[in-house]
Amino acid sequence: MQRITTLKEAFEYYRRDPVNFFKDILNFHFLSEDQTRVLQAFNEYRRLSVPAGHSTGKSSLAGGLTTYWLITRPKSRVIVTAPTYRQLKTIYWAEVNKIYNRSKLKQLNLFEINDKIMRINDKDLKREWFALPVTASTPEGMQGQHGDKTEVIEQIMKHLGIEEIGDDETIEIVSQILRGEKQIEGLTKEDKEKLLVMVDESSGVKNEIFEVLEGTDYDKLVLFGNMTKNTGYFYESVYNPKSKFYKVTMSSYNSPFMKKEQIHDLEETYGPDSNVVRVRLKGEAPDGNENSIFSSNKIDSAFQRSLSLSEYETIKLGVDVGKGSGGDSSTIYEKKDNRVRKKLDRKDFTLPDVKREIIQYCYKNRDKLIIANIDGTGLGTGLVQELEEGEIENLVVNDIQFAGKAKNKKEFNNKRTEMYFELSRNLDKLDLEEDQELKRELLIQIYEFDNNGRFKLISKDKIKEMLGHSPDKSDALALCNYEAETRNTSYRMSTEDLY
Ligand SMILES: Nc1ncnc2c1ncn2[C@@H]1O[C@H](COP(=O)(O)OP(=O)(O)OP(=O)(O)O)[C@@H](O)[C@H]1O
Ligand SMILES: [Mg+2]
Repeated sequence: MQRITTLKEAFEYYRRDPVNFFKDILNFHFLSEDQTRVLQAFNEYRRLSVPAGHSTGKSSLAGGLTTYWLITRPKSRVIVTAPTYRQLKTIYWAEVNKIYNRSKLKQLNLFEINDKIMRINDKDLKREWFALPVTASTPEGMQGQHGDKTEVIEQIMKHLGIEEIGDDETIEIVSQILRGEKQIEGLTKEDKEKLLVMVDESSGVKNEIFEVLEGTDYDKLVLFGNMTKNTGYFYESVYNPKSKFYKVTMSSYNSPFMKKEQIHDLEETYGPDSNVVRVRLKGEAPDGNENSIFSSNKIDSAFQRSLSLSEYETIKLGVDVGKGSGGDSSTIYEKKDNRVRKKLDRKDFTLPDVKREIIQYCYKNRDKLIIANIDGTGLGTGLVQELEEGEIENLVVNDIQFAGKAKNKKEFNNKRTEMYFELSRNLDKLDLEEDQELKRELLIQIYEFDNNGRFKLISKDKIKEMLGHSPDKSDALALCNYEAETRNTSYRMSTEDLY
């Protein structure tokens, strides 16, 4: 207890001065202007909303504020949340750990921090003085983990989605505090600030969770994140004129942590007024228009382009296998240099037919190297396997998993999205045959932003719904244009060795 009293006195001074706390105690030798503005507003307002661009130092700031609150407010608590547990653990909580461990507090050994909780190192106080990362999970998931808890606690935990805190007593006390049933005893007037709620990647947090958070007896609520959507609680907190939140925007343009070339690249690629620039750099919400990654003009120009072929050595194929029952088509597009042609589009073809087509194609073009990018989901899996087993000498098979990780994980949510963006960037060079159905399929490739501000195409199911069928042509076209990661295919030969 003695140590706790000393701590209280030592940090009394910093209660009013977060900026110097960051500098003196957390060892931040420098703070950006935007970081300073957030810190100043933090003490002044009960509700704070911080929409931010990339690399503005928001994660560092949020992690530091968590520690700041806990140290300067005796018997205080911080509840930290984000859309997914993984995100919370790997980004937010990792940051809290990092900041605490490199701060001057570390050597005082006043707090204990592990991957589940940060709390005071005192057996009487540790259940009332802590920071806790929590996320929403499905009710089914909760049942499995906490089947033996009393009903009330289970309900609260279900709402708040508290997973894995460790011991039951802490859970009990957290629940009481959040329900406002438990009064903390012996607090002086200044001690009355208790609960800080911090939300990271706020655009991805469901409205129901915000309702639950609103229902807690919080003393401060701070929302951080890329504003990736123009609906929901986070959006309203900034753009609704009746919002009770004080707003501080953190822009990448002001950020000393953001590389100027990166800003330049995004402006060049997407335009200074694009949603990408608004969301990822300016910390603003995307505007209301739906965003197709292709423009009608550019598709038409590609239809009109006519290129002659050079002495090409490689041909790329994009392959999408249908069921053969009349629904989806089996489709193959071929790309020689930048000239793309449809080679197959048959509703009655399925795996064996497509396989035969490819084998014949490789034979006919036996002086070339054939790189086949195959949609490896569903029936494609079988085709990839069978072609690999066949070991056709001039064929390289790439299994493209649409839901798999992109090469550029920072920019694209999944491979399908990356593949279509690569096509869009290359469209100015391609020579395509006119095809209005293909054009329709391309225009319906609408993107959104995921919680990290990365591009994400709307789901294939939605596309099918809008189109009335699967976008087989555009998939095959995007596949034949995609630069798959090179694999270790040691038995493949150079083109000189072919036949
Ligand atoms: N005040 C500071 N002094 C020195 N370095 C800092 C400071 N704040 C942040 N940084 C560093 O700048 C980089 C970006 O910071 P941070 O990750 O907090 O930004 P972010 O806005 O969360 O970025 P992202 O958009 O990637 O989520 C990190 O390497 C971080 O360590
Ligand atoms: Mg971050």
